[in-house]
Amino acid sequence: MAVSRKRAAERLRRLTARPHLTSPHLWVVAVLFAAVTVSHYTEVLSSIPVIGSISPSVFGMDRHATDRLCYALLAVYAGWALGFRARVLVLGLSLAVMLPRAILISPAPRDALYEIFAASVLSALLLLLIREMRRTQRDRDELDATIRRVISAQEDERKRIARELHDDTAQSLLLIMHQIDALASDPKITIPDDARLKLAKLYSVAQTAHQSVRRYARDLRPAILDDLGLGPALEWLADNLATEKGVDVRVRLGNLQPPPPHDTQIALFRIAQEAIANIAQHAKATRMTMTMTAVESVIRLTITDDGAGFDASIPGNPGATAKFGIAGMKERAQAAGGTLAIHSGTASGTTVVVEVPRKP
Ligand SMILES: Nc1ncnc2c1ncn2[C@@H]1O[C@H](COP(=O)(O)OP(=O)(O)O)[C@@H](O)[C@H]1O
Ligand SMILES: [Mg+2]
Repeated sequence: MAVSRKRAAERLRRLTARPHLTSPHLWVVAVLFAAVTVSHYTEVLSSIPVIGSISPSVFGMDRHATDRLCYALLAVYAGWALGFRARVLVLGLSLAVMLPRAILISPAPRDALYEIFAASVLSALLLLLIREMRRTQRDRDELDATIRRVISAQEDERKRIARELHDDTAQSLLLIMHQIDALASDPKITIPDDARLKLAKLYSVAQTAHQSVRRYARDLRPAILDDLGLGPALEWLADNLATEKGVDVRVRLGNLQPPPPHDTQIALFRIAQEAIANIAQHAKATRMTMTMTAVESVIRLTITDDGAGFDASIPGNPGATAKFGIAGMKERAQAAGGTLAIHSGTASGTTVVVEVPRKP
């Protein structure tokens, strides 16, 4: 709703915008219009020496026909650069200039009128095309902005839940464990053996729950990312893959000083997290190599495995269930202003390459 209202306001603004006198486009249109008009009326102006020598044909085409085409293209240019009003103005003026020549001077008025009509239709079609392309671009920009907002809201929410799990739930479980421990080891209380056994079980349940909650909090939003930055967080992801799956990992991280903006770091971290989760889940790899280099204004992160690979050429890699991992990686890369490519084959393992600008 808000988007369509914004779009309507923008449309109204463009329709009613007056081309500003200082705009260079306005002067380009005016000068070209004058030049084409002089060319169009050479018969009348032939006494002027330079004008009298203008060739009657251009690129093998009758020059007056070329002039009509030029007027049409000028109207398109004016519409593209200066807006709807300028386009209508240029179209009106060119008709006012072309019609008297076509009717009163041209040796073949019918052909001339037909050319004017064809040029006007061409002009309208080209403008429709430009409008459609602009609308598509605007839709894409709006979608990108929405994706960025959703990703940012999701990260905030994850951070909040992770903090609550860590500071609240995990602490309460720790307190329960301490209380059980204190109760079991209090010399003033005599506890029957079967109750002591139950207390030990209770302690172990609380301990498992505590470990799980800490793991959920860590996976939701690892503190290492916020506390130590991207490099250590990526090394931590690789270490987890090594310890949990026994994969031989190699990490080479270039100098990232000054560090990229926090949102870019989060995007790279989440992409690496998903790529590594995919290696753990699907690749059956024995080796993973992660390199991150910063070349001029671009950061490139490459994650390669020597595992089973898959057919990455199938768009969206459709399966029985919806797959959001790779799609999410691509969206994150795009939202950070970058790109993501996956090269994979059953014999060659998988390589994920993400490139993002250092500055958004
Ligand atoms: N590194 C990899 N090695 C082998 N197969 C992979 C790898 N990464 C992704 N895939 C394949 O691509 C599919 C889509 O991955 P993804 O979008 O992350 O969805 P999910 O992990 O939920 O299945 C996976 O199901 C798997 O078949
Ligand atoms: Mg996945």
